[in-house]
Amino acid sequence: MAGSTLKIEGLHVEIDGSEIIKGLDLEINGGEIHAIMGPNGTGKSTLASAIMGHPRYEITQGSVHLDGKDVLEMEVDERAHAGMFLAMQYPSEISGVTNSDFMRSAINSNRGEGDEISLMKFIRKMDSKMDELEIDQSFSQRYLNEGFSGGEKKRNEILQLLMLEPRIAILDEIDSGLDIDALKVVSKGINSMKSPDFGCLIITHYQRLLNYITPDKVHVMMQGRIVKSGGAELAQRLEEEGYDWIKEELGIEDEKVGEQA
Ligand SMILES: Nc1ncnc2c1ncn2[C@@H]1O[C@H](COP(=O)(O)OP(=O)(O)OP(=O)(O)O)[C@@H](O)[C@H]1O
Ligand SMILES: [Mg+2]
Repeated sequence: MAGSTLKIEGLHVEIDGSEIIKGLDLEINGGEIHAIMGPNGTGKSTLASAIMGHPRYEITQGSVHLDGKDVLEMEVDERAHAGMFLAMQYPSEISGVTNSDFMRSAINSNRGEGDEISLMKFIRKMDSKMDELEIDQSFSQRYLNEGFSGGEKKRNEILQLLMLEPRIAILDEIDSGLDIDALKVVSKGINSMKSPDFGCLIITHYQRLLNYITPDKVHVMMQGRIVKSGGAELAQRLEEEGYDWIKEELGIEDEKVGEQA
């Protein structure tokens, strides 16, 4: 099947009874890169976790479809098998599981029984992707993210992206903690995924990542909704002017950190 489409309609998400996402619509088609920007605490990571099926986040209204299939009906592992991928803002450390074993079992779990990747093919692919991302080979035998620096964790998330080749990827602050050279390497990795079968949602605070990855659309999220959408120039304006002009335009009151409207 050509193309991949993630369609989110009227999504409402609650955490412990308080509503964080308050009616969100978004459609990402294969071949497109979208960016979401927005102040701290507006629900960007909540959106990512809710779509991926984190049990803490309760979806009270709305729908999420991948190529017409109801994502909210799927178990967490089924979402990954269907081709959805999340690079987390704070990647977890898993002690006792090497990076290499983790990636191989993730690939095989997506491929299913009887269709496992051969060890040779896996090693060749992992070596070449690690070279591409300028990751030292020693990282394949280290425990997943354990003791990795902030930037190394982010680079490793992109290694997973390139190894798993999902249809839809959500990258939550993949640029945070990256040095200037790493930002270029990571961007190159993401750009190498570009194809009609790959759609990408990048959550970021800064325009600088978008100097290397040109988004087709930029969305501003505030108070649990997408309040404005535009092209790459919108990110440029946010970098220069911040969010006040949007709040004024839309008559949104300032909120304290953690305050729920
Ligand atoms: N597990 C949780 N328990 C309680 N509150 C939570 C939980 N997860 C998120 N929240 C609250 O939901 C709101 C949205 O959080 P979220 O992490 O989605 O914000 P964000 O837009 O990703 O912010 P940032 O730009 O700082 O990463 C915040 O007010 C946060 O405190
Ligand atoms: Mg976040």
